[in-house]
Amino acid sequence: MLSCDASDETQHTTVTGKRILLIIGGGIAAYKCLDLIRRLRERGHSVRTVMTASAQQFITPLAVGAISGDRVFTDLFDRADEHDVGHIRLSREADLVVVAPATADLLAKMACGLADDLASAVLLATDKPVLVAPAMNPRMWLNPATKRNVATLQADGIHFVGPNVGEMAEQGEAGPGRMAEPLEIVAAIETLLRKSDPDLPLAGRHVVVTSGPTHEPIDPVRYIANRSSGKQGHAIAQAAAELGARVTLVSGPVTLPDPPGVQVVHVETAQQMLEAVRAALPADVGIFAAAVADWRVANASQQKIKKDKSSGTPTLKFVENPDILKTISERGPMRPGLVIGFAAETENVVELAIKKRRAKGCDWIVANDVSAEGGAMGGDRNTVHLITAQGTESWPPMAKIEVARRLVERAAEHLKQSQVNV
Ligand code: CTP
Repeated sequence: MLSCDASDETQHTTVTGKRILLIIGGGIAAYKCLDLIRRLRERGHSVRTVMTASAQQFITPLAVGAISGDRVFTDLFDRADEHDVGHIRLSREADLVVVAPATADLLAKMACGLADDLASAVLLATDKPVLVAPAMNPRMWLNPATKRNVATLQADGIHFVGPNVGEMAEQGEAGPGRMAEPLEIVAAIETLLRKSDPDLPLAGRHVVVTSGPTHEPIDPVRYIANRSSGKQGHAIAQAAAELGARVTLVSGPVTLPDPPGVQVVHVETAQQMLEAVRAALPADVGIFAAAVADWRVANASQQKIKKDKSSGTPTLKFVENPDILKTISERGPMRPGLVIGFAAETENVVELAIKKRRAKGCDWIVANDVSAEGGAMGGDRNTVHLITAQGTESWPPMAKIEVARRLVERAAEHLKQSQVNV
């Protein structure tokens, strides 16, 4: 059995010695940047900082400079700075630009291409990947204007980490808008830095992952769903990106943030999920972790079904949904080289999963016990069996991210092996 020591498994993918340009925006979460800088430097990265005028209302350049060990850039029109470094050089002499906290105002400026201060000028001038960690009041995050700006930035290739859901600094306010924690930002930074490393095991590979439940409408306000949280599928997408793959994650409705460095396609229904997977092909690996609803409502209503006593209790008619895993497993030239399914079972887990592998036509099946006692549905840990044509391997209980890392490492080995054997 392989060791499941997390530090062992992540060690070989550690990146170090990179240059991070951190742009600190004006929000209360700016105080977390001091910890973020410390964590990055602990990992051997150098951190150069730019602070907006409002960031300096929350933390001082003195504190930032002391922790980063470098001078802090604040002014677009500082003659000494422009002479010495200049905003263009500042924006290019980095491996990655990080904006934290990314306020609603900074996101809006980025989306419009404004450049009226040093931070926004650097962001407009950079040719490096940009990661933003939004932080704002939930109403501001959910405001249609911010949503539009986020969509524009995502389409422009800007990477996001968070925001998380939780309490705000303002009393009594809670919701989406908390900045991701420093270690989450560090993980996102390292994922993006690794993507450009050609030596990673999945560099140059495309991995398509499905995740989460699907929602099958009954009427415009009601739907049929299941208890899938998407944690396992999202962890797989993250782990594949960590190993250098280009990842397309087709996700049903979940409350998880999009994993950084991953192209996420959000869908609701099984039919939409199948279309999105088809559109994402070709791929080297397809991993189908979504809990797809087996049936949809045939007689879904366009209007809300009313509690009308005269017409009695409504009757729902079901029709079978497409089986995405089976469809893709069968698909001739567009079939990914390695197709991996999941088997969610509540009894005779291995036995049923072995049959399922054959019935679906996939190469591997990851079988997991989804009975209430197993705790896999919605939980952070999973106990799985990997079923291949060669046999069954039972893995010890571990965190979903470790299941994910081990699985994608196995997939990478398999691809390498198949290449050798060609
Ligand atoms: N799956 C799929 N499309 C479906 C149903 C399932 O792609 N319409 C995929 C799942 O993502 C998973 C695998 O098929 O990889 C097995 O899913 P599971 O829910 O365990 O099995 P079902 O095929 O739904 O069969 P059953 O419910 O009878 O166990």
